Amino acid sequence: MPFARREGLKVRIRHADIERRVRAVARQITRDFKGQRVHLIGVLKGACFFLADLAREIDLETSIDFIAVASYGKTKESSGQVRMLKDLDNNVAGLNVILVEDILDTGLTANYLLRVLRQRRPKTLKLAALLDKPSRRLKPVEGNYIGFTIPNEFVVGYGLDYAERYRNLKDVCILHPTPR
Ligand code: PRP
Repeated sequence: MPFARREGLKVRIRHADIERRVRAVARQITRDFKGQRVHLIGVLKGACFFLADLAREIDLETSIDFIAVASYGKTKESSGQVRMLKDLDNNVAGLNVILVEDILDTGLTANYLLRVLRQRRPKTLKLAALLDKPSRRLKPVEGNYIGFTIPNEFVVGYGLDYAERYRNLKDVCILHPTPR
């Protein structure tokens, strides 16, 4: 029996559907930035799988960088504070920057990072996220490129973790499926 099944996880979005959406999002980015270079910034660690797949489907000159912010778990929501742990390696001034997230949840992380990045004067600044949970928003954030909009379920896999587990699952799965 596969690991995810043994763990009692329920598939929410299968890998084949993720691949199809990633290709569609990449096509949209390729169209929007025709003839230009894009600079993808992945938010560690969750976004690294989405970024890796997305980057390979974009048919443009593409560079990548990574940034990390402190994760306070639940206290992040109450304090509303986000702290930078690892800054970018390269300057983004004048670049077509796309911030790449695995999920937009409360919006605190993306809101903070977009503010930080805007101050660094990119030519354009967009937000891509594989998953969007708009019902959980505490800060207003809107993604420009969204894979799937999902309800408020705890999902893992394809980069998303529960206590650092399950990131390597190909499917996005529900951690505590309610029994039917
Ligand atoms: C998750 C996710 C986003 C952020 C979204 O990261 O990868 O970066 O939370 O949540 P928000 O919209 O409520 O800010 P996490 O802090 O769990 O770190 P990880 O990517 O290393 O798992």
